[in-house]
Amino acid sequence: MLGQEELRTFAEQGFLVLPQVVSHELVARAAAAVDGSIAAEPPGSGVRGPYFYFPASQQVPDLLSLLMDSPAFELAECLTGSNTLTPPEQVQIALNIPPFSHRPGGPHIDGFPPEPDGRPGTFTLLAGVLLSDQLDEDAGNLWAWPGTHLTHAEYFRRYGPDAFFKAAGYPHISLPEPVQIRGRAGDLLLAHYLLGHNIGGNTAKQTRRAIYFRVKRSGHNPRWREFLQDPWLEYDPIRSLAT
Ligand SMILES: [Fe+2]
Repeated sequence: MLGQEELRTFAEQGFLVLPQVVSHELVARAAAAVDGSIAAEPPGSGVRGPYFYFPASQQVPDLLSLLMDSPAFELAECLTGSNTLTPPEQVQIALNIPPFSHRPGGPHIDGFPPEPDGRPGTFTLLAGVLLSDQLDEDAGNLWAWPGTHLTHAEYFRRYGPDAFFKAAGYPHISLPEPVQIRGRAGDLLLAHYLLGHNIGGNTAKQTRRAIYFRVKRSGHNPRWREFLQDPWLEYDPIRSLAT
């Protein structure tokens, strides 16, 4: 369970890294599933930097287990309320293949281009499970711009939620210094949808591996406009903190 301190950190920073949430056994099974995806559709020999697979959850039970058969899903619901989240239908396998000497110029938010029905691809929170250690910087780590979940919400309150389409994932906001998410295999990242983030470089020896789940609260899709303007719309325990 998450304590008040952790809820406060999430409220301010827009993300939390929770150490060793997922067991070695689940991590090992997931690593074998990732090996299988890579063997079936290997990246070309010259591919460096980000490389993704987006299987349907039901096709990769050993990846979905990282979220559903560990404490991860329940920890995510500590932010949104018990029995509020729906299991994701899709999983992202996120590789970052070295050497890739990249430094992102700024953050983005996900969800652009919109889905076929015209709705931006918003969701409630990102749950990421590290499958490889990323203890140093520039090892393929995700970059995050702390607090930008609040600044992005301000942006959408000022310009309206339909400004999402023109911003194309890159609303113009003032930016804090970024941080690189560090952790070990089995650590869990929980990040607010509105947190600005981006792909970093990888000058380490090892390919970085993470599994991302884009998780929605039940009924999220039709209220995306309200959610862009009110970051705690779907986060009852955080809302209770603030009042
Ligand atoms: Fe992203």
